[in-house]
Amino acid sequence: MATLAELDSPVRSLIEAVAAFGDAPDMSVVGRKLAEFARDLDYLQHHIASLDPSRFGQRVLANPGPELPFMQLVHRPEGMMGAIHSHSVWVALAPVTGTETHRHYRVDERTPEGRARLAMTDERHLDADRAEFATLTPPNDVHAHGHVPGIGTAAYILVLTGRPQVLFERQEYDERAGTWRTLAPGDMGSPGQAL
Ligand SMILES: [Fe+2]
Repeated sequence: MATLAELDSPVRSLIEAVAAFGDAPDMSVVGRKLAEFARDLDYLQHHIASLDPSRFGQRVLANPGPELPFMQLVHRPEGMMGAIHSHSVWVALAPVTGTETHRHYRVDERTPEGRARLAMTDERHLDADRAEFATLTPPNDVHAHGHVPGIGTAAYILVLTGRPQVLFERQEYDERAGTWRTLAPGDMGSPGQAL
């Protein structure tokens, strides 16, 4: 785990700027900053090249400490959507290349026995070339993301959370089965879900 001072300079600048916004930042400002950073292909290209385009992959770009923002580069291949999940910590995401389909859900019912009823409230197609981004703040942070066949090319996205995801318990949903479950801190959930 690199300290803040040890991070590559472009990443350090971003993390320092976002950390300075405090625990409850204006998420549109955070999203814009992240989308702006996502345009730095000169810097990000070597990270993209490290991930296999045909498989789910993730690469930590910043993990400077438990009280600071955490950032990963994430790739889902052609046709892969992740499971529906929450983060329990604020999150911003922006594609570096390609088009990320982003679905936001409302939880209409969730029982202690593990039953859940969801409704999709929004579907967006975040385009890297247009510097688009999405942000989520708990508890209204139930979503799924990835690639849908026919909607752009499979994206490489930056996922920035307010603090490291591994510190937070969160939830994963199966809309078809009508179920939900809690993921313990550090449990990244179903294969291909992660962030
Ligand atoms: Fe997510």
